[in-house]
Amino acid sequence: MENELQKLKAEAEEALHAISSKANLEDFRVKFLGRKGLFSSTMKQLGKVSKEDRRRLGQLANSIKKSVEELFRDRKEMLESGDGTVAEAVDLSLPGRALPFAALHPISQVMEEMCAVFEGMGFAVAEGPDVETDHYNFEAVNIPRHHPARDMHDTFYVSESILLRTHTSPMQARIMENQDPPLRYISPGKVYRCDSDITHTPMFHQVEGFLVDRKVSFADLKGVLTSFIHRIFKDDLPIRFRPSFFPFTEPSAELDIACVICGGSGCRVCKRTGWIEILGAGLIDPEVMKMVGYDPDEFSGFAFGLGVERIAMLKYGIDDIRLYYENDLRFLKQF
Ligand code: PHE
Repeated sequence: MENELQKLKAEAEEALHAISSKANLEDFRVKFLGRKGLFSSTMKQLGKVSKEDRRRLGQLANSIKKSVEELFRDRKEMLESGDGTVAEAVDLSLPGRALPFAALHPISQVMEEMCAVFEGMGFAVAEGPDVETDHYNFEAVNIPRHHPARDMHDTFYVSESILLRTHTSPMQARIMENQDPPLRYISPGKVYRCDSDITHTPMFHQVEGFLVDRKVSFADLKGVLTSFIHRIFKDDLPIRFRPSFFPFTEPSAELDIACVICGGSGCRVCKRTGWIEILGAGLIDPEVMKMVGYDPDEFSGFAFGLGVERIAMLKYGIDDIRLYYENDLRFLKQF
């Protein structure tokens, strides 16, 4: 009987080891551990052995059955934790799963790069609110109510006097009214205009910049912007300043760069002109200075506003702005 028990134990262990899928577990249980299984029938023979041996053999039988039951439970747990087969449950050679790497959105990357160039020239960074008052967005930068210049900005109004800022220029007034010159600031952020086509989205990004000190001239503005463009694109990219109008700068200019798509020979992107406009700028209007309490005879300054999407499109040769905001990972992963 003792031999029989040991043999049964070895047999059960071997059978258990051979089980490689969940489906075979039940067969094993019925055959060995079930009511009519091999262990039960062996135990029944205990009745036939001598009294002195019965106790010892009974204990032996019980402990063997227990250990087989334990092994069975372990095997079952292992098979149920994988997809039901031993190979899948524990494949020690499988490499770990790498976590996907996140990266900054291309617009954020370009904005950071732009800010870094200006910071290198000594400009400090200040961010302002997206939800702005009519006062700072328009009045404080010399665009009174009913002034035709308001037409340049298709504005989202929240109420009569609250709106989504249409440019980052309100930050000029916000900073100047709280600090005395000399000032050298850039202000990056989101701006909003009711506009949508392949080169416009209702939300886009600008980087505003301004500098106020004694004896600031248009030459200083040209110097700062020229080095900026050459740092962002390439050292010898042709640029030109073209006269323009903004209510908060006088004189005003727009800066064009040679089309980076066709190299200046004329294409669809530059509308066959060879030039692409990328920013507005000028000397800060004396009216704006007066409104924040500066004496325009003592101080002068320049300001500029750049579209980040425009720069990113030209840098990467992308002609549809909407790609930036469709959250298509195949597009975004390229940056
Ligand atoms: N705020 C102007 C715009 O959004 C750009 C600008 C900024 C022009 C500063 C001149 C000076 O169009």
